[in-house]
Amino acid sequence: MAKITYIEFNGAEHPVDASDRFSVMEGAVKNNVPGIDADCGGQCACGTCHVYVDPAWLEKTGERTEMEKAMLEFVENVQPNSRLSCQIKVSDKLDGLVVRMPESQH
Ligand code: FES
Repeated sequence: MAKITYIEFNGAEHPVDASDRFSVMEGAVKNNVPGIDADCGGQCACGTCHVYVDPAWLEKTGERTEMEKAMLEFVENVQPNSRLSCQIKVSDKLDGLVVRMPESQH
């Protein structure tokens, strides 16, 4: 279980308790957090779960997967801290994680 704060592009904050069974994307979708559509259901094939990981959390969220890197080439406004949230697994070590949604997902 981890408390994750999702921040919409307009600044609205959505703190949720996400289960370890979920990805960071699922933690948002299952708690009705707007801004993460996840059209492909977590298959790393749509890019609509794009988030910016708060810089303080980059190390704990780990590296992008190869598939994720390929998918991010088709996503707008990619930054060094961009991740596809379906590729980040929730765990206790992510308790307190903060992610922000890009302008294109509001
Ligand atoms: S949900 Fe489609 S790429 Fe993450």
